[in-house]
Amino acid sequence: MTAEKIKIALLGLGHMGLPTAALFAKNGFEVVGIDINPDIVDIVNAGRSPIMEPGLDELVQKVVEKGYLRAENNISKSLKNSNVMIILVPTPIDDNHCSDLSAVISASETITKALNKDDLVIIESTVPPHTCEKIIIPILEKSGLEASHDFGVAYTPERALPHNTLYEMTHNARVIGGVDEESANKAAALYKKITHGEVVIVDNLVTAEMVKLMENTYRDTNIALANELALICESLGIDAVQAIKAANFHPRVNLHAPGPGVGGHCLSIDPYFIVEMAEKGNRPAKLIKTAREINDFMPYHVAFLIEKTLQDNGKSLNNSSVGILGVSYKGNVADTRETPAEPLIKNLISKGARVIAHDPLVDEGFIKQIGGSKVELEEALEADCVVLITDHDSYRQITPEMIKKSIFICTRPILDPAEFRKRGVIFKGVGRP
Ligand SMILES: NC(=O)c1ccc[n+]([C@@H]2O[C@H](COP(=O)([O-])OP(=O)(O)OC[C@H]3O[C@@H](n4cnc5c(N)ncnc54)[C@H](O)[C@@H]3O)[C@@H](O)[C@H]2O)c1
Repeated sequence: MTAEKIKIALLGLGHMGLPTAALFAKNGFEVVGIDINPDIVDIVNAGRSPIMEPGLDELVQKVVEKGYLRAENNISKSLKNSNVMIILVPTPIDDNHCSDLSAVISASETITKALNKDDLVIIESTVPPHTCEKIIIPILEKSGLEASHDFGVAYTPERALPHNTLYEMTHNARVIGGVDEESANKAAALYKKITHGEVVIVDNLVTAEMVKLMENTYRDTNIALANELALICESLGIDAVQAIKAANFHPRVNLHAPGPGVGGHCLSIDPYFIVEMAEKGNRPAKLIKTAREINDFMPYHVAFLIEKTLQDNGKSLNNSSVGILGVSYKGNVADTRETPAEPLIKNLISKGARVIAHDPLVDEGFIKQIGGSKVELEEALEADCVVLITDHDSYRQITPEMIKKSIFICTRPILDPAEFRKRGVIFKGVGRP
């Protein structure tokens, strides 16, 4: 499989799609990135990245300048000229926790209009089990061509970590399942051009779909266990963070860290894809569902901690100021999708608190939209109660002297409680009585 013969069209130039497109372009493939958002198309064609991701701006600039990557809205023409089409569009859930596959369906319909014999369609979006076989392939076959006989289909989940995306895309193992062996092998040969990681071929499409969901469900469930243990530790007067750290010295234990809840486009969504399919098959996913409930409850527990700590110190939440540090769903990223900061801030406001928030990476618009106001770090630190939600690296420099009114709820295990308590700060946290 040589780069000269392969023309790649990648649908969805988002957090995962743009780095993938840029990496294929870097390795000499002619890549057209297709996105329904014209602003993204313009930014990419100007040689920039609309996403904040280390190294991506420079890479996009280089490959666009060299002519290996261009972005388009003009869907049909570019697709017709491509022989590998990659789908990397969003797959959110709706209010009932059911998968919303509308973007995957519309991307598949777009490809169907331009599908040629011997093309290879690769799906990277995270999807519920059997989506490729039961939803995507039937759409593609409306072209009159038959999967496996006339065109190939492979599924390879994207598993890179935001803020380290380019490294992980080029070093992580890649799992691939195909509609047939030829499709899987073709996709494997292609991804070997961009990754040093191992390429693992599994039996079929649905196994590869399930692998991704298992990985994120493992992590979500592990965090839920840590959160439940933290809640129990709190009630027993035990520092859960210290206990978990010590437990992890056991060679076969790897408990994750407790925290304010789980956000992002993966962990807080993907387990529901398993729950949805399990329930359709009359095999309830009890543990997975409970883990989701525990993690979704955590922002409300943080709100309780804030209210109780203020009360214990003679203040009421109503009319107190709460300074939130960090609103993105995790440290060092600007992504606010499913962030636990949102239900927390809304809950605090509904109880009459005045919420001010600082985040070095998130702009004012999002904070305003959820009811808070964006302030400088110094102002947030002057609030009646300071609450650290996101483990941005810059917050590791916070010292006891910076907490002006002496109440600090630190929901991530990045600061030493003893240091703060020694200097008179009331330091509480998830699992930190
Ligand atoms: N963000 C992550 O950390 C991460 C990690 C691994 C896997 N994933 C999975 O990757 C997939 C994409 O996630 P993301 O975070 O990159 O999403 P994103 O929202 O950042 O980007 C998706 C892009 O697709 C575009 N789009 C939507 N419908 C389209 C269509 N029909 N045709 C062309 N473009 C379309 C959007 O305009 C957007 O630019 C999801 O299934 C997600 O679960 C995400």
